[in-house]
Amino acid sequence: MECITEQTSQNNKSFLILASGKGSNAINLWKHAKLKNYKCLGIFSNRKDSEILSYCKTNNIPHFCIRSSKYSKDEYNRKLKDLLQDLKVDWLVLAGYMKILPHKILKNFFNSKINKYQIINIHPSLLPNYPGLNSYERAFTNGDFESGISIHFVDEGMDTGPILLQEKFLREEQDELADFIEKGKSLEHQMFPKALDIIMNTTKELIDEV
Ligand code: GRF
Repeated sequence: MECITEQTSQNNKSFLILASGKGSNAINLWKHAKLKNYKCLGIFSNRKDSEILSYCKTNNIPHFCIRSSKYSKDEYNRKLKDLLQDLKVDWLVLAGYMKILPHKILKNFFNSKINKYQIINIHPSLLPNYPGLNSYERAFTNGDFESGISIHFVDEGMDTGPILLQEKFLREEQDELADFIEKGKSLEHQMFPKALDIIMNTTKELIDEV
């Protein structure tokens, strides 16, 4: 967990949301950013056919796309790195972005004051439990009666960076998988804007307690 020790305004920092699929979190964050007057540069997707890009087009939200299926991994990441540099992005917010960010991109977001990359990700489990894909499904199948969501700083590993926020939900006896996922998603939509408030607004330096 993180604690706040020092005030340094980050209010004017820009951020870009990265998403690959439906984008319910991305849309939620975009709306929150508008309300709070945060400098959201728009939404990026690596999939041209993603629901989130259609939503952006219909709703006039600035959007960017580099098709990961069209390029080699190296070429894709080089193009993404160039785009992020051109846009002058300060923070990356990963909202269902299904690709790994390589070191050559991560390193451009390193903030030595907080000793972290200025990148956060939302994950549908109580990390370190169930990193990787299909986390709700795996927790449900495992019979877990307590699950949750995590928002964490991104590091070189997969879903391994320091936790910024975590919140639990309880599974009821009669819950089906769909109910379980619904509880998780609703918590995601509640908590991600709070995480955004922490990194944008505040006026803080984050230091690991551990
Ligand atoms: C969410 O469950 C998030 O935790 C995970 O990917 C999913 C994205 O959902 N990283 P959506 O596209 O925001 O609806």
